[in-house]
Amino acid sequence: MHIVSIEDLWFRYRGSDDWILRGVSLDIGRGEFVVVTGRSGCGKTTLCRCLNGLIPQFYEGELKGSITVAGLDVTKTPVSRMASIVGMVFQNPSSQLFMLTVERDVAFGLENLGVPKDEIRKRVNWALEMLGIPDLRFRAPHELSGGQQQRVAIAAILAMQPQVIILDEPTAYLDPYTSLSIFNLLKELNSRLKLTVILVEHKLEFASSLADRIIVMDGGRIVVEGDPREVFMKDLSIYGVRPPSIPRLFLKLAGCGLQFKRIPLTVEEAVNVFREVHLKVDRS
Ligand SMILES: Nc1ncnc2c1ncn2[C@@H]1O[C@H](COP(=O)(O)OP(=O)(O)O)[C@@H](O)[C@H]1O
Ligand SMILES: [Mg+2]
Repeated sequence: MHIVSIEDLWFRYRGSDDWILRGVSLDIGRGEFVVVTGRSGCGKTTLCRCLNGLIPQFYEGELKGSITVAGLDVTKTPVSRMASIVGMVFQNPSSQLFMLTVERDVAFGLENLGVPKDEIRKRVNWALEMLGIPDLRFRAPHELSGGQQQRVAIAAILAMQPQVIILDEPTAYLDPYTSLSIFNLLKELNSRLKLTVILVEHKLEFASSLADRIIVMDGGRIVVEGDPREVFMKDLSIYGVRPPSIPRLFLKLAGCGLQFKRIPLTVEEAVNVFREVHLKVDRS
């Protein structure tokens, strides 16, 4: 049973002639970590909006096909109900934080859902612990760094105990090391809580080694998808996608005549591939 199931989804915004999503079909399993990438304007954010009901309930337009999340027809389920199932984190965390303290921001969604006070207190404590930010509890969100704000935004979503978390370029405003810490955190939430993660990212350098699957979109369609090691063996430059440095290096080496059975993604995998090549040389 898939947690997300999209069948032949087409969407165009009201007042626009262009179809922005053009026949997207996608199944995501519970606990999967999926990275969605593709050039600007290919429809990634539009796809995210279809997964929590913002499309078509808030952003109107013409929609064809079906979207099912956790067994619910997203087009017919109130956005407020979807919000407790699918959490959404955006590029700019400050757009999601507006209370005077971190604690209040993390509790906000739960208060809206009418969760009892005791339960709110427990869940806020738990979410702050999970994100490693209990010491930020009484700080003002607008005074925090971008990375800290993004952790607060994720804690606020996590406190709702969603089944799926979607992050739409969450590290767009963060430096590489802070981005890396956010990605590692997502992987931890994914493995510890079996949370399904859909991460929209341009920065594939770090994100792709966490992914069970990479999905490349172009022109409102899914053009390539699969295990990152297979995906990066293809020429993605036509879709405006730049693979991480290790696969790029190995593709270049392959272009110089070296043969590899597979393309590694991490330094550890690269070492193993080199070992195999080395052994082959020894034997001949
Ligand atoms: N609210 C909207 N109304 C009309 N067109 C929109 C709206 N949001 C996005 N679009 C258009 O949809 C296309 C895809 O945008 P988007 O889904 O944001 O792509 P991405 O996230 O991949 O950059 C773009 O051409 C964009 O202008
Ligand atoms: Mg976008």
